[in-house]
Amino acid sequence: MVYWTDAERHNITDLWRRVDPDKLGPQAVARLLIVHPWNQRYFATFVNLVDAATIKESPKVASHGKVVLRGLDIAVKNLDSIKATYAKLGELHSDILNMDPSNFTLLSDCITITLAAKFGPWVFTPEVHSAWQKFMDVVVAALSKQYN
Ligand code: HEM
Repeated sequence: MVYWTDAERHNITDLWRRVDPDKLGPQAVARLLIVHPWNQRYFATFVNLVDAATIKESPKVASHGKVVLRGLDIAVKNLDSIKATYAKLGELHSDILNMDPSNFTLLSDCITITLAAKFGPWVFTPEVHSAWQKFMDVVVAALSKQYN
């Protein structure tokens, strides 16, 4: 089980209460698809993702961004059991979507960069960044568990 200090728990939950998943999710997933375009292959039904502007305006990208960030909300609310909480989600990404697990880290980075850009240095301090990075590392490890 992951050990969280009181400060880490506070920094993660305090940052998260400021987040609107329905706004941040679309921005983070659009960033993933623009910066790491090979991820578009997992979204075969998202036709016409021809350029950055189209990706940012795509309702399907936005909708998936909301799904992913709402998924993260469940992990924030279950900090002590993220592995168990994500068991089924890990199976979906590995067994059904055949996801390359390195993409979890890329999306994690895109989420973190989107948070930093939104909240800036006064909220997204190094201490908050550190706790958030640990949280995302645990999320990525939980989703990647099926590959080990
Ligand atoms: C932080 C990492 C991630 C989280 C928390 C996450 C979360 C989720 C959630 C909650 C779902 C919906 C599951 C359901 O409907 O039961 C989902 C589905 C999906 N995810 Fe992820 N995901 C992550 C990473 C990725 C990455 C990196 C990709 C692709 C590059 C991806 C592609 C997909 C696809 C294609 C689906 C199915 C969409 C559909 O059928 O509508 N996910 N993910």
